Amino acid sequence: MSDTFNFATALLDWYDQHGRKDLPWQQSPTPYHVWLSEIMLQQTQVGTVIGYYQRFIDRFPDIEKLANAGQDEVLALWSGLGYYARARNLHKTARIVRDEYHGQMPASLEELTALPGIGRSTAGAILTLAYHQRFAILDGNVKRVLARFFAVEGWPGQKKTENQLWQLAETLLPRERIANYIQAQMDLGATLCTRSKPACERCPLQTDCRAYALGRQTDFPGKKPRKTIPTRQTHWLVLQNEQGEVLLEQRPQQGIWGGLWSFPETTDCSNITLLCHQQWQLKLLSQSELSPRQHVFTHFRLDIQPHLLQCRTDGVADKDRGNWYKIEDTFGLGLPAPVKSFLKSLQI
Ligand code: ADE
Ligand code: SF4
Repeated sequence: MSDTFNFATALLDWYDQHGRKDLPWQQSPTPYHVWLSEIMLQQTQVGTVIGYYQRFIDRFPDIEKLANAGQDEVLALWSGLGYYARARNLHKTARIVRDEYHGQMPASLEELTALPGIGRSTAGAILTLAYHQRFAILDGNVKRVLARFFAVEGWPGQKKTENQLWQLAETLLPRERIANYIQAQMDLGATLCTRSKPACERCPLQTDCRAYALGRQTDFPGKKPRKTIPTRQTHWLVLQNEQGEVLLEQRPQQGIWGGLWSFPETTDCSNITLLCHQQWQLKLLSQSELSPRQHVFTHFRLDIQPHLLQCRTDGVADKDRGNWYKIEDTFGLGLPAPVKSFLKSLQI
């Protein structure tokens, strides 16, 4: 970010022109309204939330009335929004606020985050939007904007990355207009800096956005790392003689599929004709590649390319180098699962 760029000012100027100011919970942003809307918006789109929010507020105009309701009624009004733990926690918290805070939502980060269902970001939204205190939030939208603007590598589910984002969020906070600033961050993330197609050409942060400069907007925030296991390649030589029998070998006791019966394998299939001749004194009549398969072991993935090899037995087959089996007779042998399913597919 250049020295002359003021993140908060750019965002606030944009908010004045393009921010959302007519959402129902913005009309009178009391701690209760902000809290309820934030909980509803956690896993649900604004468009869906609006109707639920209004019905909820009509029935429970204040925290006290929510606290005095039965859980069934609360859940009934939540019905269709999903993630019902949100509603149960909302109800629990309402009762705590009634009993311990005289029905007034507390106004400190410590007290708020001690309540069921309220995390640091939701507490931040209540403290800023309702109480006009200077706090940061870090919901999904804000994470995305900051991760892109600063090109923060790493997955925000990881503590290190999350802490880095919190730190950035806190450093950027303006001294004035905190509520508008927080709402502006949410709005920018929800309307311009969207997950898959950010509208950078209309974005007030574009001049100093690192992800934009790198052309790597959708690389941020980083994805949850998938446990990567190595992939090995092998080729199955599915030798089939004039009688339609297939050649199976018993695998060495050590290693994968130890002692089970499988097709001969090779990693080098540059000269299968020569290989068949040298190993089994077979004359290759035709060969074709069948659909590849993949088998996943605990520590690696095996990519298997089967080759169907029609051949003629010229010499005497060496008994140490496998046995010929009618396909229907193979099923009595110990077969690895992918071999078994492959043999079944050959039968039809
Ligand atoms: N998403 C989460 N909180 C929001 C808010 N206060 N306004 C709009 N969208 C939101
Ligand atoms: Fe997001 Fe694009 Fe704006 Fe950067 S320039 S903050 S990627 S919308």
